[in-house]
Order: sequence, then C-alpha cells, then structure tokens
Amino acid sequence: MPHAAPGRLRSVVTGLGCYLPKRIVSNADLEKCLDTTDEWIVQRTGIRQRHVAAEDEPTSQLALLAAKAALADAGIAAADLDLVIVATSTPDYTFPAVAVQVQAGLGMTNGVAFDLQAVCSGFVFAVATADKFLTSGSHRRALVVGAETFSRLLDWSDRSTCVLFGDGAGAIVLEARPGQGTASDRGVLTSHLRSDGRHREKLYVDGGPSTTRSVGHLRMAGREVFRHAVGMVADVVTDAFSATGTTAADLDWFVPHQANKRIIEASAEKLAIAPEKVVCTVDLHANTSAASVPLALSVARDDGRIKPGDLVMIEAMGGGFTWGSALIRW
Ligand code: UT7
Repeated sequence: MPHAAPGRLRSVVTGLGCYLPKRIVSNADLEKCLDTTDEWIVQRTGIRQRHVAAEDEPTSQLALLAAKAALADAGIAAADLDLVIVATSTPDYTFPAVAVQVQAGLGMTNGVAFDLQAVCSGFVFAVATADKFLTSGSHRRALVVGAETFSRLLDWSDRSTCVLFGDGAGAIVLEARPGQGTASDRGVLTSHLRSDGRHREKLYVDGGPSTTRSVGHLRMAGREVFRHAVGMVADVVTDAFSATGTTAADLDWFVPHQANKRIIEASAEKLAIAPEKVVCTVDLHANTSAASVPLALSVARDDGRIKPGDLVMIEAMGGGFTWGSALIRW
C-alpha cells in the first residue's frame, strides 16, 4: 500500500471583517486648505478620498470593530481564539499594545496578544507570523488585524505626504486545519518577508518616546520610495510563486498594498499578472498602511470577487524598508 502524502497544518482564513471611520475627506476638501488639486492627486496616485478617524476614535477602537466583524464572519466567539496580533504603527499609547486592548475589548482572557510593527508591510508580516504559530501546532485560532490612524501622524501642511494616507482597520481569522502539503490546500501556502534598514531615512516618523518624547510627523522621499517599491514587491511575489510551483497565470486575485495606483499597475505588469485580477481600492481608502491589504480583501470578498478556493496573493512594501508577500488559497 503506498503511503499517503504526509499532511501538514495550514492556516485557513475562516473570517474577514473591516471598519472604516465615518468621516470621508475628498480630494476636493483638501483643495480648500492645501496648494493641491484633485487632478494632481488622482493622476499621481489614483486616490480620490480617504476616511479620517474622529478625535475620540483611537486605533484600538477601529481594530476592535474590525475584529468583531471578522469573528462574526467566522461564526466563532472570542474565547475560541488563542492568538491576537495587531499590525500597527499608530498605537493609542506607547504601551500597552493595541492587541491587548482588543483582547480586553473582546472579553477574551485566554491566549496571547501582541502588536507587530512593520509599517505598511505590517499585515503581511502579521499573517506570516500567525501562520508560524498555527502551523507549529502551538496555537489553534488567530485573529490578525491591521489598524491605523495615520491621520494623527501627518503634517497637514506638507502636501507631498498628507494627501496620501487614510485611517481604517481590517481583520482576518486564521484557523489551523490539516492539509495535504500541496498548493491545492486551503490556507496560507507560503510567505516571504524582507527588510533592509539602510533605507530608514526614505520613509520615517521624526519623533518617538526615546528621541523627541513626542509623536512626530511622517516624512517621506516619495520618489525614492517609488523607485524601490516595484522591484522589491516583484522579488517577494516571485519567491512565493517559486516556493509553491505556481505562476501568475494560476492566481485568481492579486491584492497588493494600496499606496499608489501607479505602483500597483507597474508591479502587476512586471509580474505578468492580468489587470483584471488586480484588486485596487486606493481610490476609496488612500494608503491606510497596515490596514490596506485587509481592507482591499474585504472589498473584493464582499463584492463577490474573492471566493473559497481562489488563489490570492497579498503583498506590501513600506517604511524600514520592509516588504513581504503571502500566497493564500481562500
Ligand atoms: O506605503 C509606503 C510606500 N509609500 C509609497 O509607496 C509612496 C511612494 N511614492 C509615491 O507614491 C509618489 O512618489 C508620490 C505620489 C508621493 C509623488 O509622486 P511623484 O510622481 O513621485 O511626484 P514628485 O514627488 O516627483 O513631485 C512632482 C511635483 C513636485 O513639483 P516640482 O518639484 O516638480 O515642481 C511636487 O512639489 O509634484 C509636486 N507635488 C504636488 N503638487 C500638487 C507634490 N505633492 C503635491 C500635491 N499637489 N499634493
């Protein structure tokens, strides 16, 4: 009798949810207070509007509402989770972590909760991290959240950065389930993370508890970031294809970090991913950093594009630099 292929655990997406603050700021709104135009913003970035959190709406609140939506979608209770990871660069406080506030907000007293900071790549890094916990067998169900209030970090007099970002949160539930160890399995099939700290000056915040003792403002050499983005994204996506024996033709959906429509289109073109497979929500949300990928997943799942069994590539690149990809069979 031939042996069955040795199985392995997979981290399967069982729930997805998001939350966007009610206030929408359009490009036309920004034209009233900045030397900018809707035409410039749309042409250079694809952004048409962004959501901005209310003063009394901290990142943990956005994260908690997205988390509750994801749990309801998965049809499980908070007590069924044993791991919570929140990817954010805009925590309510220096500490404790947003993740423990989400844990408490969900009424969850078991398991472990912590934040992960990889700026715009945070959600991809958090998915990869949760996957390691789940597939090692140490944990069974993870909540992975990307949540940001970047509006709080912006220098609203700097037109080269403040038009680019928005606030929001998205979350998924991952559950360890047995798979065959093949690319036909449901779940996270592979993940590839990279960083290179030599690029820190190209995208950073000029404040923090151990330097200025304040929050600081986001600073970016946009053209420099742009110059590196496409190549870095292409590298980690290619790594994911190589590791799984898949190609761009096998993909159902490409769900990239939503920073700039031109970066998204150039990355897809370099990777030979057909334009109709590309999920682009930067027009609606602007760049929400760690929240951008789960927000885009939510839009594409809710409008019927992403369906169970689909092959979905997520990727991101951001401050650090950090960059990464994960290939998921939905
Ligand atoms: O999520 C993390 C990753 N971040 C990114 O991926 C962002 C990457 N970078 C970008 O998306 C683009 O570089 C930007 C959208 C930030 C800028 O686009 P660009 O085509 O690289 O423009 P630029 O920086 O080369 O600026 C072109 C011109 C400049 O004027 P001059 O010097 O040519 O006269 C800017 O002053 O556009 C001017 N400009 C603006 N004009 C109107 C910059 N911001 C604005 C603005 N409105 N908001």
